[in-house]
Amino acid sequence: MTTTEYGLRDTVNDTVWQGGDLTDRYLNGVRGAIPLAQTQMDTMRRLIRWSQEEVALVLDLGCGDGILGQAVLDQYPAARGIFADFSTPMLAAAEKRLAGYGERVTLVQVDYGQQTWRENLTGFQKTCQVSGFDIIVSGFSIHHQPDGRKRELYAELYDLLKPGGIFVNVEHVASRSKWGEMLFEEAFVDAMVAYHRQNGNGQPREQIAHELYNRPDKAANKLTAVETQCDWLRDIGFIHVDCYLKYFELAVFAGVKPK
Ligand SMILES: C[S@@+](CC[C@H](N)C(=O)[O-])C[C@H]1O[C@@H](n2cnc3c(N)ncnc32)[C@H](O)[C@@H]1O
Repeated sequence: MTTTEYGLRDTVNDTVWQGGDLTDRYLNGVRGAIPLAQTQMDTMRRLIRWSQEEVALVLDLGCGDGILGQAVLDQYPAARGIFADFSTPMLAAAEKRLAGYGERVTLVQVDYGQQTWRENLTGFQKTCQVSGFDIIVSGFSIHHQPDGRKRELYAELYDLLKPGGIFVNVEHVASRSKWGEMLFEEAFVDAMVAYHRQNGNGQPREQIAHELYNRPDKAANKLTAVETQCDWLRDIGFIHVDCYLKYFELAVFAGVKPK
């Protein structure tokens, strides 16, 4: 496994993920509780299987500990993966999780909020002599960007894909109303309570709800409706764009770059 650290600019606009506490809380207390996480993963894998035969290179953007990209590497044993994140503790968690994948894995520290983030990947692609990514996945990450940057980033991902390549975003999206938001929050608290009970942690529901509503990364969320994001993907040129799974504010949406 290789790790490349690119100097992050001082202006990283969302620093909550840089801390070890949030990383630990997310990986050990939240990720396993995400409602329908297995179905999201299954949907992602099916979309990928239907669109790709041979896969050489995968990008997991905002990879956290690499859970999504790992699923893709397992699906395509000849594939190599770039796991990109701006958080040092998250990349350390990814390094641990992906230790068994050897040279198939490269960890890259980039802030994709900056337009220059791609330069680092282009260098890597040249070294590997590949022209683009077959697959780009992202999980619960891009919603920290403002709308204008989200749209720009999707266009950048389109450019990074090979013709025929697929982008799958497993994402936290906006409810259309406060009513929808409340339904989502209740469902999320229920899932967290069930997860914590299963793991022998008897925290009262009120405490779990309080921590969830006041979590540090919530303030950094800039949620956007999935319909809007799918429209952007279509405008950029992606085909087969749809929201393939949605449970309140949790969506799996995707698009394919035409051949
Ligand atoms: C909620 S975690 C999700 C991690 C993983 N993708 C998953 O599905 O569990 C969000 C991740 O996005 C990363 N992230 C957020 N903004 C980023 C940015 N501008 N550049 C790179 N990584 C970013 C965070 O450091 C964090 O690891």
